[in-house]
Amino acid sequence: MAFKTKTTKAFAGFLALIGLSVSASIPQSAVPSHATASQRRQFSLHPTFARDVAPIIDQHCASCHHSTQTGKIALCGNNAFSLLSYNDVKRSASEIARVTRSREMPPWLPEHGYGDFVDEYRLSDAEIRTLSEWARDGAPEGAASEIPSAPKFTSGWQLGKPDLVLEAARPLSIPAHGPDVFWNFIFSPDLKMTRYVRAIEVRPGSDLSLIHHANVVVDPARSARRQEKEPGAGFPGMDISLEHSPFDIPSHFLFWKPGSKPWVEPDGFSWPLNPGTDLVLNAHFMPLGRSEQALPSIGLYFTDKPPDRFPMVIEQRMTTRSTFPRATPILP
Ligand code: HEC
Repeated sequence: MAFKTKTTKAFAGFLALIGLSVSASIPQSAVPSHATASQRRQFSLHPTFARDVAPIIDQHCASCHHSTQTGKIALCGNNAFSLLSYNDVKRSASEIARVTRSREMPPWLPEHGYGDFVDEYRLSDAEIRTLSEWARDGAPEGAASEIPSAPKFTSGWQLGKPDLVLEAARPLSIPAHGPDVFWNFIFSPDLKMTRYVRAIEVRPGSDLSLIHHANVVVDPARSARRQEKEPGAGFPGMDISLEHSPFDIPSHFLFWKPGSKPWVEPDGFSWPLNPGTDLVLNAHFMPLGRSEQALPSIGLYFTDKPPDRFPMVIEQRMTTRSTFPRATPILP
C-alpha cells in the first residue's frame, strides 16, 4: 500500500514531537537542573561577568553563538555573532538584556507551564534579571581570574566517530546572492543487515553557517531517486513527496540546525534502518554574500539493541489561525 507523505518544516511541531516522545520515558533525574546556580545568582546584588553572567551565557547561548575552528560563526546568517569572550558579551549587553527579557532568546517556542520538555532552552526569571541588572550597571567584568573557561566546541562530529558516514555524491554550489536554496541529497547506506540507529548527526560541509536547517527523511521505497535528473544529482524543493507505507515511518526526530545538539535516542528507542532504504537530506541553505560549495554528510550511530519503546508523532502545524500562544517563530 503506497501513501503520499509530505514533510513539513513546522518547527514548533518538531519541538512538540521531541518533548512528547521522550519526556514520558526519561527519568526526572536525567533532566538537567540549574536551580542551585540560579538561586545563587538571585542574591547577587551587583552582577559581574566573571561570577554571574558568563555561566548563563556559556550554558544557554554559546552553543549557537560561537565561532567554529574555521573562524566562521556556527549560526546561520550574515549577522551571526559570537558570545564567548567578555568583550563580545559586553558589546551586546543591552541587546542581550532586551532579547532575554522579551524571551526572544534563547529561541524556545513552547509557552512555559503547558508541559515539561526535555532540554528546554529557557532562562529562569532570576537569570533574566541578572542579565538586565548587569547591562544597567555598565557590564562590569569582575575578577578576570574568576571567568570560567569558555565551553569548547568541535567542528568535527560532536558525538565522536560515527559507525557509518554517508557523504553526498557531489557538492552543491550555493550562489553568493539570490533566494534561499532548498535541496534534497539522496544517500544510500550500504547495509548487509538491519541496523538500529541510536543517533544521527548532520555536517553541512565546509561552512556550518550555510545551512539554515535540514531534515532527514527515511525513504524505504527509494522513491526520491525518481525525482533526480541523473543518479547522484539530488533535486530541488522544500516540500518533498515520497511513497511509503505509514508503517515504515520511524516517527523519530531527524532534524538538524546549527547550534543544536545531536539527538541521541533514549535507551530502547533506536529505529531500524533496513538494507535497501535511502535517506534523503532535505536542506535549506541561505546565500551568505560569497559563493560556497555545500557537501553535506550524515553520521549514523548504531546500537545492537532493537527498540522496545516506540515514540508517537504528534504534529502541530502552524497556521495563521493558530491559537497557540507565542506561535510566531524566531527560527522558521
Ligand atoms: C538555538 C540557537 C540559539 C541560542 C541557544 C541562542 N541564540 Fe541568540 N540568536 C540565534 C539566531 C538564529 C539569531 C538570529 C535571529 C534572527 O535573525 O531572527 C539570534 C540572534 C540573537 C541576537 C540579536 C537579536 C536581534 O534582534 O537581532 C541576540 C542579542 C542574541 N541572539 C542573544 C542571545 C542570548 C543572550 C542567548 C542566550 C541567553 C542566545 N542568543 C541564545 C540563535 C540562538
